[in-house]
Amino acid sequence: MKESFVIQGLAGQHTLKGEIFVNGAKNDVLKVIASSFLFDDTIHVENAPSIDDVSALLTLVEHAGATTKQGERTIEITVPQQTDTKLDPTLAKKLRSSVVLTGPLLARYGEVSFPHPGGCVIGARPIDLFIKSFEKMGATCTVDDEYYHIKAANGELQGADIFLDIASVGVTETVMMAAVLANGVTYIRNAAMEPEIQNLAQYLVTCGARIEGIGTPTMVITGRNKEPLHSGGSVYKVIPDRIETGSFLVLAALAADDVTITRCNPEHVRYLLSLLEQSGVELECTTDTIRIRAPKSPYKAVNIKTHEYPGFATDVQAPMVVFLTQAEGESFVFETMFEGRLNYTQDLVRMGADITMFDPHRVMVRGPKALSGKELEGPDLRAGLAYVIAGIIAKKQSIIHGVHHIDRGYEKIEERFRALGVDITRVQE
Ligand code: EPU
Repeated sequence: MKESFVIQGLAGQHTLKGEIFVNGAKNDVLKVIASSFLFDDTIHVENAPSIDDVSALLTLVEHAGATTKQGERTIEITVPQQTDTKLDPTLAKKLRSSVVLTGPLLARYGEVSFPHPGGCVIGARPIDLFIKSFEKMGATCTVDDEYYHIKAANGELQGADIFLDIASVGVTETVMMAAVLANGVTYIRNAAMEPEIQNLAQYLVTCGARIEGIGTPTMVITGRNKEPLHSGGSVYKVIPDRIETGSFLVLAALAADDVTITRCNPEHVRYLLSLLEQSGVELECTTDTIRIRAPKSPYKAVNIKTHEYPGFATDVQAPMVVFLTQAEGESFVFETMFEGRLNYTQDLVRMGADITMFDPHRVMVRGPKALSGKELEGPDLRAGLAYVIAGIIAKKQSIIHGVHHIDRGYEKIEERFRALGVDITRVQE
């Protein structure tokens, strides 16, 4: 069933009022779901968002033999002693995080077969670093038409000294989890440091893993020789979604009279907060809220360059470009990570934005330019939400198709925006 959002724009007025809460982070909950294969008992997860990517990954782990139970923002997962380590291809191709499952499965059961993972179409998204890391840990990889087949020598991964050419989020998480059950010590150098990785690592440590250097570029993991972890009933608390927080900040900066973002962690969006402040956005932070009020003077242009955490998050780049269309002057945007992640700017130009693309990684935004409502097809999760924000600040009506992309990562977004005063309706096509 295809759905769209119909939005009546505010035509640049700052009228939104009230509170909007941030859900648990998509890119945190997905990884703890994958980690369940490291445990010999049930894992309990709290503050889980109810989003399509979570349902898809839970279905995938069920196909791999796990038993799952979902409650109000909670998830419980129990995995079997032995299981089918061939991932269901249709399900695995639906989401990128399916590849993170390979680490725990390979480490626990000695082998895994999986198709090239899916996810948002934002660039090539190869998996060479996963394969290279597994090979360094003593596994062999063969490929046929449909699957990569990875086998650990004698069913057991060996600790290894691994330097990641790119500080990849998914590879860091996957190798870290594989190393927890490997034989010997694994070093991950140039490791990614995203808060979601830190949260996962700390939980694994609580449950018996030996991981040092959490939140630093060098992680040292002493393996447990295939002895599974034991949660003992300890609960995994999913951290607030910093990408939701960032997107709400942009919306509030562009359209708030007085809006407070609650249940967030401002520490995780410091780079963005600093840029918004430089641009002239009025912000007041507590430990878990951010209040934004209507600006007294026009916003100024700022340059952005996406970077691994704690740099500027690539996932907030699209909403931030919408912000920059309303800032005075020229802003240069450098998307360093994904070569397909600026294509959506063509649609903002159709809405009236002045954006020049130099190459697939770089654009210049000249503002301020009033936007006009249009009928658009959201190309992926983050750009889809950027279109919604653009529609909210534009003149007249916008229709945003491709809501299924947005539902992958944002729970009932239209209801939360409506509570602030946004005129947005979900309609069936
Ligand atoms: N890369 C390789 N080879 C690999 C793995 C990655 O070349 O084997 C490259 C990627 O192509 C990319 C760069 O490394 O150019 C960084 O990608 P990374 O592996 O860090 O990304 P990811 O783990 O696939 C996660 C998030 C993305 C987020 C990126 C970067 C999840 C499920 N996804 O992806 O989130 O953009 O980190 O922060 O955690 C989203 O939520 O919309 C989303 C796309």
